[in-house]
Amino acid sequence: MKITIIGAGNVGATCADILAYKEVSNQIVLVDIKEGLAEGKSLDIWQKAPIHAYDTKTLGSTNDYTATADSQVVVITSGLPRKPGMSRDDLIEINSRIVKEVTENVIQHSREAIIIVVSNPLDVMTYQAHLSAGLPRTKVMGMAGILDTARYRAFLADALSVSPKDIQAILMGGHGDTMVPLPRYTTVAGIPITELLDKATLDNIIERTKFGGGELVKLMGTSAWYAPGAAAAQMVEAIVKDQHRVFPVCVKLAGEYGIDDCYLGVPVVLGKHGIEKVIELALNEEERQLLETSRKHVREVMSVLELRTRKQDF
Ligand code: NAI
Ligand code: 2OP
Repeated sequence: MKITIIGAGNVGATCADILAYKEVSNQIVLVDIKEGLAEGKSLDIWQKAPIHAYDTKTLGSTNDYTATADSQVVVITSGLPRKPGMSRDDLIEINSRIVKEVTENVIQHSREAIIIVVSNPLDVMTYQAHLSAGLPRTKVMGMAGILDTARYRAFLADALSVSPKDIQAILMGGHGDTMVPLPRYTTVAGIPITELLDKATLDNIIERTKFGGGELVKLMGTSAWYAPGAAAAQMVEAIVKDQHRVFPVCVKLAGEYGIDDCYLGVPVVLGKHGIEKVIELALNEEERQLLETSRKHVREVMSVLELRTRKQDF
């Protein structure tokens, strides 16, 4: 079974490394436009196999998609990351060109692939991949919710001095400052978070989560990769092993939550067909309002993409 990762940069290579280490499939192909980068990183991961005792074969290619033929899952990480002072939306022009081109190449060789988009701005790049792939919405999705939820869970673990393993949470909306963490659906080993933390502390953690990506960009001068790579790998594993895991995933909504034609993070069941089911939570009025604000923001950025597509300037 083959998994392909487009973009052998920070996130793509981290994702490949984790998938190899966990032996999620027996073959991983890395593709990058930069001469030798994918070949070098896959060779490095393969040379780690004797140390970490795995036998997943990793193969690199410079922009040659024949090696990706018949992939079951393709992760798209190609594109520019944020620099300090940039929002994710600032990346739309360059990254939409890249995502369009790589999706067309992917589909030419793997008609049945399930596509997971990581490139930013996430929700709109998922839309771009969906347009370019011509696949059903169940097979084109975006990774953001697992990462954003992981940040939220890590901050909560710190505040409570408990293991992050015991924190369960869900988060919805777009991958940006309008994301919607849901304290009502956050528990510590089944105990509602509101019984363990006061409102002010919880509100601070929610704010920090919303700007969690930016916090790392400020520290490192580029965006994060360990947690993003791991989050994408977790989605791949759920699909390849047909695990039916429940994760927040960016998907095109078709009436769920009263929303049509918008890409937003919502809880879904992930399995071998991709999105097996969208789970609809009974949101209260405040949560619904927050989701609506997020929807409006993502819709605006989707319109920018639609305008560019109509002008056919790429
Ligand atoms: P990076 O710069 O380390 O890697 C990107 C790679 O894409 C580079 O190696 C580059 O050569 C390659 N690339 C560019 N154009 C290409 C093309 N046409 N075909 C094949 N490869 C191409 O960046 P990093 O940190 O890996 O981030 C990748 C993307 O993921 C960025 O857009 C970033 O904003 C996004 N991101 C999204 C997250 C999320 O939660 N959805 C989290 C972290 C990053
Ligand atoms: C992140 O949240 C920048 O989307 C990237 O780390």
